[in-house]
Amino acid sequence: MRLKDKVALITGSTRGIGKEFALGFANEGAEVIVHGRNLEKTKAVAGEIQSLGVKSKAIAGDVSLSQDVTRMVQEAIDAFGRIDILINNAGVNPFILEAEKIKEEGWDQVIDVNLKGVFLCCQAVGKRMIEQGGGKIINISSAAGILGEQGFLPYCVSKAGVMTLTRILAYEWSQYNIQVNAIAPGLVAGGMNAPILNKEILVSGLTQQVPLKRLGKPEEIVKIALFLASEESSYINGTTIVADGGMTGYHPVGFLDLIAEMMKKKSSNP
Ligand SMILES: NC(=O)c1ccc[n+]([C@@H]2O[C@H](COP(=O)([O-])OP(=O)(O)OC[C@H]3O[C@@H](n4cnc5c(N)ncnc54)[C@H](OP(=O)(O)O)[C@@H]3O)[C@@H](O)[C@H]2O)c1
Repeated sequence: MRLKDKVALITGSTRGIGKEFALGFANEGAEVIVHGRNLEKTKAVAGEIQSLGVKSKAIAGDVSLSQDVTRMVQEAIDAFGRIDILINNAGVNPFILEAEKIKEEGWDQVIDVNLKGVFLCCQAVGKRMIEQGGGKIINISSAAGILGEQGFLPYCVSKAGVMTLTRILAYEWSQYNIQVNAIAPGLVAGGMNAPILNKEILVSGLTQQVPLKRLGKPEEIVKIALFLASEESSYINGTTIVADGGMTGYHPVGFLDLIAEMMKKKSSNP
Protein backbone atom coordinates (compact mmCIF):
# COMPACT_ATOMS: atom_id res chain seq x y z
CA MET A 1 0.00 0.00 0.00
CA ARG A 2 2.71 2.45 -1.06
CA LEU A 3 0.17 5.03 -2.24
CA LYS A 4 -2.35 4.91 0.60
CA ASP A 5 -4.37 8.16 0.86
CA LYS A 6 -2.85 9.52 -2.37
CA VAL A 7 -5.09 10.79 -5.16
CA ALA A 8 -4.01 9.88 -8.70
CA LEU A 9 -5.41 11.33 -11.92
CA ILE A 10 -4.59 9.11 -14.89
CA THR A 11 -5.47 10.40 -18.34
CA GLY A 12 -6.45 7.84 -20.98
CA SER A 13 -7.14 5.13 -18.42
CA THR A 14 -10.13 3.45 -20.07
CA ARG A 15 -7.99 0.76 -21.72
CA GLY A 16 -4.45 -0.37 -22.52
CA ILE A 17 -1.54 0.69 -20.35
CA GLY A 18 -3.60 3.51 -18.78
CA LYS A 19 -6.13 1.05 -17.41
CA GLU A 20 -3.27 -1.06 -16.02
CA PHE A 21 -1.94 2.07 -14.28
CA ALA A 22 -5.39 2.72 -12.81
CA LEU A 23 -5.78 -0.81 -11.42
CA GLY A 24 -2.15 -1.04 -10.30
CA PHE A 25 -2.37 2.28 -8.44
CA ALA A 26 -5.69 1.31 -6.82
CA ASN A 27 -4.08 -1.94 -5.63
CA GLU A 28 -1.39 0.17 -3.93
CA GLY A 29 -4.06 2.15 -2.08
CA ALA A 30 -4.39 5.23 -4.31
CA GLU A 31 -7.79 6.79 -4.99
CA VAL A 32 -7.98 6.94 -8.77
CA ILE A 33 -9.61 9.35 -11.18
CA VAL A 34 -10.26 7.42 -14.39
CA HIS A 35 -10.25 9.52 -17.54
CA GLY A 36 -10.88 9.19 -21.28
CA ARG A 37 -13.12 10.74 -23.92
CA ASN A 38 -15.99 8.29 -23.40
CA LEU A 39 -17.89 8.60 -20.11
CA GLU A 40 -19.36 5.08 -20.20
CA LYS A 41 -15.89 3.55 -20.60
CA THR A 42 -14.45 5.67 -17.78
CA LYS A 43 -17.36 4.64 -15.53
CA ALA A 44 -16.74 0.96 -16.30
CA VAL A 45 -13.10 1.16 -15.14
CA ALA A 46 -13.99 3.32 -12.13
CA GLY A 47 -16.58 0.63 -11.24
CA GLU A 48 -13.87 -2.08 -11.36
CA ILE A 49 -11.76 -0.03 -8.97
CA GLN A 50 -14.66 0.64 -6.61
CA SER A 51 -15.30 -3.12 -6.48
CA LEU A 52 -11.79 -3.45 -5.00
CA GLY A 53 -13.06 -1.25 -2.15
CA VAL A 54 -11.13 1.80 -3.37
CA LYS A 55 -12.59 5.27 -4.04
CA SER A 56 -12.65 6.14 -7.73
CA LYS A 57 -14.30 8.67 -10.00
CA ALA A 58 -14.90 8.71 -13.75
CA ILE A 59 -14.32 11.95 -15.62
CA ALA A 60 -14.67 12.26 -19.39
CA GLY A 61 -12.86 14.78 -21.55
CA ASP A 62 -10.39 15.45 -24.32
CA VAL A 63 -6.85 16.31 -23.18
CA SER A 64 -6.29 18.44 -26.28
CA LEU A 65 -9.07 20.89 -25.31
CA SER A 66 -8.20 23.36 -22.58
CA GLN A 67 -11.84 23.77 -21.47
CA ASP A 68 -12.12 19.98 -20.97
CA VAL A 69 -8.87 19.89 -19.03
CA THR A 70 -9.92 22.79 -16.77
CA ARG A 71 -13.25 21.06 -16.06
CA MET A 72 -11.55 17.69 -15.45
CA VAL A 73 -9.24 19.18 -12.84
CA GLN A 74 -12.05 21.12 -11.15
CA GLU A 75 -14.24 17.99 -10.94
CA ALA A 76 -11.31 16.04 -9.50
CA ILE A 77 -10.62 18.70 -6.87
CA ASP A 78 -14.34 18.93 -6.00
CA ALA A 79 -14.45 15.16 -5.44
CA PHE A 80 -11.09 14.53 -3.73
CA GLY A 81 -9.84 17.93 -2.54
CA ARG A 82 -6.38 17.44 -4.07
CA ILE A 83 -4.38 15.65 -6.78
CA ASP A 84 -1.13 14.09 -5.57
CA ILE A 85 -0.17 12.21 -8.72
CA LEU A 86 -0.81 12.97 -12.37
CA ILE A 87 -0.03 10.41 -15.06
CA ASN A 88 -0.21 11.89 -18.55
CA ASN A 89 -0.88 8.67 -20.38
CA ALA A 90 -3.50 9.60 -23.05
CA GLY A 91 -1.90 9.26 -26.45
CA VAL A 92 -2.65 8.41 -30.08
CA ASN A 93 -0.68 7.00 -32.99
CA PRO A 94 -3.35 6.85 -35.68
CA PHE A 95 -1.40 6.39 -38.94
CA ILE A 96 1.81 5.20 -40.60
CA LEU A 97 2.71 7.60 -43.42
CA GLU A 98 5.76 8.93 -45.19
CA ALA A 99 6.48 12.55 -44.28
CA GLU A 100 5.46 13.89 -47.69
CA LYS A 101 1.98 12.32 -47.34
CA ILE A 102 1.05 13.58 -43.89
CA LYS A 103 -1.86 16.02 -43.91
CA GLU A 104 -1.98 19.07 -41.67
CA GLU A 105 -4.99 17.64 -39.75
CA GLY A 106 -3.08 14.39 -39.11
CA TRP A 107 -0.06 16.26 -37.78
CA ASP A 108 -2.28 18.45 -35.57
CA GLN A 109 -4.25 15.49 -34.20
CA VAL A 110 -1.13 13.70 -32.95
CA ILE A 111 0.68 16.78 -31.63
CA ASP A 112 -2.50 18.17 -30.02
CA VAL A 113 -3.18 15.02 -28.00
CA ASN A 114 0.34 13.74 -27.32
CA LEU A 115 2.18 17.00 -26.67
CA LYS A 116 -0.24 19.91 -26.20
CA GLY A 117 -2.48 17.63 -24.12
CA VAL A 118 0.41 16.76 -21.81
CA PHE A 119 1.25 20.46 -21.44
CA LEU A 120 -2.37 21.45 -20.71
CA CYS A 121 -2.78 18.72 -18.07
CA CYS A 122 0.60 19.50 -16.46
CA GLN A 123 -0.28 23.19 -16.31
CA ALA A 124 -3.79 22.76 -14.91
CA VAL A 125 -2.78 20.14 -12.32
CA GLY A 126 0.59 21.81 -11.65
CA LYS A 127 -1.18 24.99 -10.49
CA ARG A 128 -3.11 22.93 -7.91
CA MET A 129 0.05 21.10 -6.85
CA ILE A 130 1.79 24.45 -6.32
CA GLU A 131 -1.10 25.55 -4.06
CA GLN A 132 -1.18 22.28 -2.14
CA GLY A 133 2.60 22.15 -1.61
CA GLY A 134 3.77 19.46 -4.03
CA GLY A 135 3.02 16.44 -6.15
CA LYS A 136 4.35 13.96 -8.64
CA ILE A 137 3.85 14.10 -12.40
CA ILE A 138 4.64 11.15 -14.66
CA ASN A 139 4.53 11.71 -18.41
CA ILE A 140 4.30 8.76 -20.78
CA SER A 141 6.72 9.25 -23.63
CA SER A 142 8.02 6.47 -25.90
CA ALA A 143 11.23 4.87 -27.12
CA ALA A 144 9.99 6.11 -30.50
CA GLY A 145 10.81 9.62 -29.29
CA ILE A 146 14.46 8.56 -28.91
CA LEU A 147 14.87 6.27 -31.91
CA GLY A 148 12.77 8.11 -34.46
CA GLU A 149 10.82 5.57 -36.49
CA GLN A 150 10.12 5.91 -40.21
CA GLY A 151 6.42 6.45 -40.94
CA PHE A 152 5.69 7.81 -37.46
CA LEU A 153 7.04 11.36 -37.75
CA PRO A 154 4.49 13.32 -35.65
CA TYR A 155 4.27 10.55 -33.05
CA CYS A 156 8.05 10.44 -32.59
CA VAL A 157 8.29 14.24 -32.49
CA SER A 158 5.48 14.44 -29.92
CA LYS A 159 7.16 11.86 -27.68
CA ALA A 160 10.56 13.55 -27.98
CA GLY A 161 8.79 16.79 -27.01
CA VAL A 162 7.33 15.11 -23.92
CA MET A 163 10.85 14.28 -22.70
CA THR A 164 12.00 17.89 -23.11
CA LEU A 165 8.82 19.25 -21.50
CA THR A 166 9.44 16.88 -18.58
CA ARG A 167 12.97 18.19 -18.03
CA ILE A 168 11.98 21.86 -18.16
CA LEU A 169 8.95 21.47 -15.88
CA ALA A 170 11.14 19.63 -13.38
CA TYR A 171 13.57 22.56 -13.33
CA GLU A 172 10.79 25.12 -12.99
CA TRP A 173 8.69 23.30 -10.39
CA SER A 174 11.36 21.78 -8.12
CA GLN A 175 10.96 24.89 -5.94
CA TYR A 176 7.31 23.86 -5.34
CA ASN A 177 8.18 20.27 -4.34
CA ILE A 178 6.77 18.92 -7.60
CA GLN A 179 8.75 16.10 -9.22
CA VAL A 180 8.24 15.62 -12.95
CA ASN A 181 9.53 12.48 -14.66
CA ALA A 182 8.72 10.46 -17.75
CA ILE A 183 8.67 6.84 -18.85
CA ALA A 184 9.61 5.85 -22.39
CA PRO A 185 8.27 2.35 -23.03
CA GLY A 186 9.48 0.36 -26.01
CA LEU A 187 7.21 -2.18 -27.69
CA VAL A 188 4.55 -3.22 -25.20
CA ALA A 189 2.24 -6.21 -25.67
CA GLY A 190 -1.06 -4.40 -25.27
CA GLY A 191 -2.76 -1.07 -25.72
CA MET A 192 -2.37 0.42 -29.18
CA ASN A 193 -0.27 -2.62 -30.22
CA ALA A 194 -3.13 -5.05 -29.48
CA PRO A 195 -4.23 -5.30 -33.17
CA ILE A 196 -0.84 -6.71 -34.26
CA LEU A 197 -0.29 -9.19 -31.43
CA ASN A 198 -1.85 -12.10 -33.31
CA LYS A 199 0.29 -11.42 -36.40
CA GLU A 200 3.16 -13.75 -35.58
CA ILE A 201 5.52 -12.73 -38.38
CA LEU A 202 5.19 -9.07 -37.44
CA VAL A 203 5.70 -9.72 -33.74
CA SER A 204 8.75 -11.93 -34.30
CA GLY A 205 10.21 -9.29 -36.66
CA LEU A 206 9.69 -6.62 -34.02
CA THR A 207 11.12 -8.67 -31.18
CA GLN A 208 14.28 -9.22 -33.24
CA GLN A 209 14.89 -5.50 -32.71
CA VAL A 210 14.89 -5.98 -28.94
CA PRO A 211 17.96 -7.40 -27.16
CA LEU A 212 15.68 -9.15 -24.63
CA LYS A 213 13.89 -10.75 -27.62
CA ARG A 214 10.40 -10.10 -26.37
CA LEU A 215 7.79 -7.36 -26.08
CA GLY A 216 7.35 -5.55 -22.78
CA LYS A 217 4.47 -6.41 -20.48
CA PRO A 218 2.10 -3.61 -19.39
CA GLU A 219 2.75 -4.54 -15.74
CA GLU A 220 6.47 -3.85 -16.27
CA ILE A 221 5.56 -0.25 -17.14
CA VAL A 222 3.14 -0.02 -14.21
CA LYS A 223 5.93 -0.98 -11.78
CA ILE A 224 8.04 1.95 -12.99
CA ALA A 225 5.11 4.36 -12.61
CA LEU A 226 4.49 3.09 -9.06
CA PHE A 227 8.15 3.66 -8.24
CA LEU A 228 8.05 7.20 -9.68
CA ALA A 229 4.82 7.96 -7.79
CA SER A 230 6.13 6.68 -4.47
CA GLU A 231 8.60 7.98 -1.89
CA GLU A 232 11.18 5.51 -3.24
CA SER A 233 11.93 7.90 -6.12
CA SER A 234 12.34 10.99 -3.92
CA TYR A 235 15.63 12.05 -5.57
CA ILE A 236 14.62 11.38 -9.18
CA ASN A 237 13.53 14.47 -11.09
CA GLY A 238 13.39 15.61 -14.71
CA THR A 239 14.45 12.28 -16.12
CA THR A 240 13.00 9.72 -18.50
CA ILE A 241 13.18 6.07 -17.54
CA VAL A 242 13.50 4.02 -20.71
CA ALA A 243 11.87 0.57 -20.52
CA ASP A 244 12.47 -0.98 -23.92
CA GLY A 245 14.35 -4.24 -23.38
CA GLY A 246 17.48 -2.48 -24.64
CA MET A 247 15.99 -1.51 -28.02
CA THR A 248 17.22 2.09 -28.10
CA GLY A 249 20.81 0.95 -27.56
CA TYR A 250 20.58 -1.72 -30.22
CA HIS A 251 21.94 -1.73 -33.76
CA PRO A 252 19.87 -2.52 -36.82
CA VAL A 253 19.20 -6.18 -37.60
CA GLY A 254 22.28 -7.77 -39.14
CA PHE A 255 24.70 -5.17 -37.84
CA LEU A 256 25.72 -7.16 -34.77
CA ASP A 257 26.14 -10.31 -36.86
CA LEU A 258 28.48 -8.36 -39.13
CA ILE A 259 30.51 -7.12 -36.15
CA ALA A 260 30.62 -10.68 -34.72
CA GLU A 261 31.91 -11.95 -38.06
CA MET A 262 34.57 -9.23 -38.17
CA MET A 263 35.63 -10.02 -34.61
CA LYS A 264 35.97 -13.71 -35.42
CA LYS A 265 38.26 -12.86 -38.34
CA LYS A 266 40.24 -10.45 -36.24
CA SER A 267 40.78 -12.91 -33.39
CA SER A 268 42.05 -15.57 -35.80
CA ASN A 269 44.59 -13.07 -37.25
CA PRO A 270 46.01 -11.17 -34.27
N1 LIG B 1 1.53 0.30 -26.41
C1 LIG B 1 2.82 0.57 -26.58
O1 LIG B 1 3.61 -0.26 -27.04
C2 LIG B 1 3.37 1.92 -26.19
C3 LIG B 1 4.73 2.11 -26.32
C4 LIG B 1 5.28 3.34 -25.96
C5 LIG B 1 4.47 4.34 -25.48
N2 LIG B 1 3.12 4.15 -25.39
C6 LIG B 1 2.31 5.25 -24.88
O2 LIG B 1 1.55 4.79 -23.77
C7 LIG B 1 0.33 5.52 -23.69
C8 LIG B 1 -0.83 4.52 -23.64
O3 LIG B 1 -0.79 3.77 -24.83
P1 LIG B 1 -1.70 2.49 -25.08
O4 LIG B 1 -0.93 1.61 -25.96
O5 LIG B 1 -2.24 1.97 -23.80
O6 LIG B 1 -2.87 3.16 -25.97
P2 LIG B 1 -4.41 2.84 -26.13
O7 LIG B 1 -4.73 1.44 -25.75
O8 LIG B 1 -4.78 3.31 -27.49
O9 LIG B 1 -5.08 3.80 -25.03
C9 LIG B 1 -5.06 5.18 -25.18
C10 LIG B 1 -5.90 5.81 -24.11
O10 LIG B 1 -5.90 7.24 -24.31
C11 LIG B 1 -7.25 7.71 -24.39
N3 LIG B 1 -7.28 8.87 -25.28
C12 LIG B 1 -6.94 8.92 -26.59
N4 LIG B 1 -7.08 10.16 -27.05
C13 LIG B 1 -7.51 10.92 -26.01
C14 LIG B 1 -7.83 12.29 -25.86
N5 LIG B 1 -7.76 13.15 -26.89
N6 LIG B 1 -8.23 12.73 -24.65
C15 LIG B 1 -8.32 11.87 -23.61
N7 LIG B 1 -8.03 10.57 -23.68
C16 LIG B 1 -7.63 10.10 -24.89
C17 LIG B 1 -8.05 6.51 -24.89
O11 LIG B 1 -9.41 6.57 -24.49
P3 LIG B 1 -10.58 7.09 -25.46
O12 LIG B 1 -10.21 6.69 -26.85
O13 LIG B 1 -11.80 6.44 -24.91
O14 LIG B 1 -10.58 8.57 -25.27
C18 LIG B 1 -7.36 5.38 -24.15
O15 LIG B 1 -7.84 5.29 -22.83
C19 LIG B 1 0.30 6.43 -24.91
O16 LIG B 1 0.75 7.71 -24.55
C20 LIG B 1 1.28 5.77 -25.86
O17 LIG B 1 1.84 6.68 -26.78
C21 LIG B 1 2.55 2.95 -25.73
